[in-house]
Amino acid sequence: MSAAVLKAVNLVKIYSGGALPVPAVRGVDLEVEEGEFVAIMGPSGSGKSTLVHMLGGLDTRTSGEIWLDGKRVDTLSESAWALLRREKVGFVFQFFNLVANMTVADNVELPALLAGISPKEARERRESLLAALNLGDRADAAPAQLSGGEQQRVALARALANKPSVLLADEPTGNLDSRNTRDVLRLLGEVHKQGQTIVMVTHDARVASLADRLVSLFDGQIVDDGRIARRRTGTAREVIDLR
Ligand SMILES: Nc1ncnc2c1ncn2[C@@H]1O[C@H](COP(=O)(O)OP(=O)(O)OP(=O)(O)O)[C@@H](O)[C@H]1O
Ligand SMILES: [Mg+2]
Repeated sequence: MSAAVLKAVNLVKIYSGGALPVPAVRGVDLEVEEGEFVAIMGPSGSGKSTLVHMLGGLDTRTSGEIWLDGKRVDTLSESAWALLRREKVGFVFQFFNLVANMTVADNVELPALLAGISPKEARERRESLLAALNLGDRADAAPAQLSGGEQQRVALARALANKPSVLLADEPTGNLDSRNTRDVLRLLGEVHKQGQTIVMVTHDARVASLADRLVSLFDGQIVDDGRIARRRTGTAREVIDLR
């Protein structure tokens, strides 16, 4: 038995809405082991977002298989997958997708409650995540009252609230300044150390260097997949010097 948390087998996505079909992902095979931190890089249009959206069930596949925690998910009904996703997947996007008319606290607690975590535990988890991200005093604020970097940290807390089997992140530091990028990366590094499996799309090699493994996409195909060498003694802070 493989310990793959997430697996894609010959995964294909062809967008067929327009005049010409667009092959965005062309036969991707990928296995992500429990606790791995995988960075996905590649030029604009190479299929990175399409791939992670499919892996999390936010976009339908054209063909191929997707497995999550040993269970085939691409053949589930949409509603069955939506339920499973609430329990097992956390998402962070480049733009934060926070619910505007809910407080920061409710934005973070909601996914935990939807995943069936008890209200007490959801509150405790929210408190510890917001504290870890230096947002403890902003719990009652509305997203619009926060800076971009603060909103992105809330989005990350929200994605982690349901203790997902896998955290999928699409350019989570894409529009942050270097200080906010450091905060987000520090938390990613910390949750990774605690065993969180992470798949992160990034265009920034310094950000990718936080990961254990780098997958390169080109024209919808994996062209390189390897471990990232780093000084064993290096902390994330030393490896990524963002100043
Ligand atoms: N909804 C859509 N309909 C049609 N084509 C799409 C759609 N979404 C993406 N594409 C196309 O699929 C290809 C892959 O897009 P995708 O967004 O996955 O790339 P990406 O690697 O994430 O790029 P970027 O680095 O710019 O975010 C591109 O050619 C894009 O134009
Ligand atoms: Mg993209």
